[in-house]
Amino acid sequence: MTERLESREKVTGAARYAFEYPVENVAYAAAVQASVGRGEVVAVDADSVLALPGVLAVLSHENAPKLHDPPDGELALFQSRTVSYRGQFVAVVVGETLETAREGARRLRVEYAAESPDVRLRTDHPDLYKPDKVNPTFPADTEQGEPEDAYGCSAVRVDVTYTTPAEHNNPMEPHTTLAQWNDDGLTLYDSTQGASSVQNIIARVFGLDRTQVRVVSPHVGGGFGSKGSPRPNVVIAAMAARAVGRPVKFAVPRQQMYATTGYRTPTIQRFRVGADSDGRLNAVLHDVVEQTSTVKEFAEQTATPTRVMYQAPHRRTSHRLVALDVPTPSWMRAPGETPGMYALESVMDELAVATGVDPIELRIRNEPDRDPENGLPFSSRNLVACLQEGAERFGWAGRDPAPRARREGRKLVGMGVAASTYPAYMAPNRATARAEPDGTFTIRIAAADIGTGARTTLALIAAETLKADLGDVRVEIGDSSLPKATVAGGSSGTAGWGTAVVRACEALRAELNGGLPAEGLEVSADTTEEVKAREAFSRHAFGAQFAEVEVDADTGEVRVRRMLGVFAAGRIINPVTARSQFIGGMTMGIGMALMEESVMDREFGDYLNRDLAQYHVPSCADVRDVDAVWVEESDPHLNPMGAKGIGEIGIVGAAAAVGNAVHHATGVRVRSLPITPATLV
Ligand code: MOS
Repeated sequence: MTERLESREKVTGAARYAFEYPVENVAYAAAVQASVGRGEVVAVDADSVLALPGVLAVLSHENAPKLHDPPDGELALFQSRTVSYRGQFVAVVVGETLETAREGARRLRVEYAAESPDVRLRTDHPDLYKPDKVNPTFPADTEQGEPEDAYGCSAVRVDVTYTTPAEHNNPMEPHTTLAQWNDDGLTLYDSTQGASSVQNIIARVFGLDRTQVRVVSPHVGGGFGSKGSPRPNVVIAAMAARAVGRPVKFAVPRQQMYATTGYRTPTIQRFRVGADSDGRLNAVLHDVVEQTSTVKEFAEQTATPTRVMYQAPHRRTSHRLVALDVPTPSWMRAPGETPGMYALESVMDELAVATGVDPIELRIRNEPDRDPENGLPFSSRNLVACLQEGAERFGWAGRDPAPRARREGRKLVGMGVAASTYPAYMAPNRATARAEPDGTFTIRIAAADIGTGARTTLALIAAETLKADLGDVRVEIGDSSLPKATVAGGSSGTAGWGTAVVRACEALRAELNGGLPAEGLEVSADTTEEVKAREAFSRHAFGAQFAEVEVDADTGEVRVRRMLGVFAAGRIINPVTARSQFIGGMTMGIGMALMEESVMDREFGDYLNRDLAQYHVPSCADVRDVDAVWVEESDPHLNPMGAKGIGEIGIVGAAAAVGNAVHHATGVRVRSLPITPATLV
């Protein structure tokens, strides 16, 4: 059990975040958002703002330099007069101070030719289409057997539609970039989940060689997926810095974040589930409708967990998208799995009620012995162990299955369960390991620690491989000048980065058999071939979420009394930071179940939420007793550490467990998140 290696720097304020780098002669940027939901910019009155003392530049489509090759419309800042959604950045003001820049942005008059935006997601939208794939590379639709017919002749049928709202990631640290041009190119101090990825993409945007871009991001104050790829802030800061010939700082204020840095798409999910009277699934049909923007296609993989979870001979999943005049959705913690498993695991609870089978027993009865979709063996699958261990610890056996059976004064009390899953991804990475002349070691990899404890985990992995003391291992991450690494995303960091670290350390140990040269010794590893050569397995982590809620019978207020997550995620490398990931995800699941909702302005476009007073996340008082444990799982088919990812699985299924507990407490099935008092009384 090892505390974060940088914990002292963080609590003393010594850890430097992107906005805090001291650079000479810095200027500040403030951006202007479109105030119409669709249309064109007709005119930008830059002159009156340029006349303000301290204003250095105003950039808009009228004068912005042409970008070389932005990979998508969200990064093509100020390249056309088109407004694709309300809140889109249309101009930036650069000033001597942050206050000057913001005042200039506030005063900038932009004239528009406005059209009325179409922002309403609906299942009968005429422009629904089937995407070529859903993220990252899954087929949009799958089908096996005769799902419609099989559903039609099943003894027990559940046909329900679940909806989830748009949700915003809301990391503590804003999306921030400090950009500085020099003779060698561009340096970016950036709040990102992937320095190497920002380096590549920004080089492409500005027509530079990737060696001309350096991205520095040793500390990142959260991302939850929203910093998984460069956002407009990076391009704005770099463009502004070039325009004024000075370093420029730009942090997206929370008020501007809701339109510009990504969010989880709202979903409408129809489930039809047919089973025999014992609850054995015969047919599962999961049809998803969700949104993207007109700027860039983002196709959330909402139905993919349904392809993995339960045995059923007849199955169908589908995704349909519509490109609305809305900000572009993006990754938010366990994209796909989170909304998809909320619906699936709520439906399983409905099936348990319909068949009279205990919800845990129902899941065990439908446990597949291979991946039900592709027929591959699971590298390991311990869902049943998680359910059983959790039932034991949580006191499931004493639960009266009847809804509304337990009342304590004004409180109705209920318990719910849901399963959890997340893929165990792994991508090629590079790392170097260096034996220093003084007997210590330095590990280098452009990995990111977004608050997860990744730096510490990699140090533990290196120390174990080197058979060295942890105190003798230094880990350098968060800089694109280090060996190229994948993003902190898809819960793949420990697996992907860790494998490269292990291989570099193994190679170093082998070479050190010849003795340590006076100048030290460095070796590097690249896991591309190793990842390619992996055997075909279905690799996923699993878990079981338990929740107990009390619902005020008069007001409908829901309180989560206690929550337990039991996970099977391979070998847990650092229990203290792993537990934080699990309970952090579960806490986010409480938010999803009871609070989080981004509200679209149907007439004018954009999300109405502007801050954490309008976008509610759980506070300490909402999170009374959340615990996470894990079962022993030894899986030889993963990576040298035997580890599956843990960053995202904690949120998956958590909202369903809470919703199922609310149903058990009240007898009310809310199929549209969040579950607020108004939905219950
Ligand atoms: Mo995560 S949403 O893959 O950063």
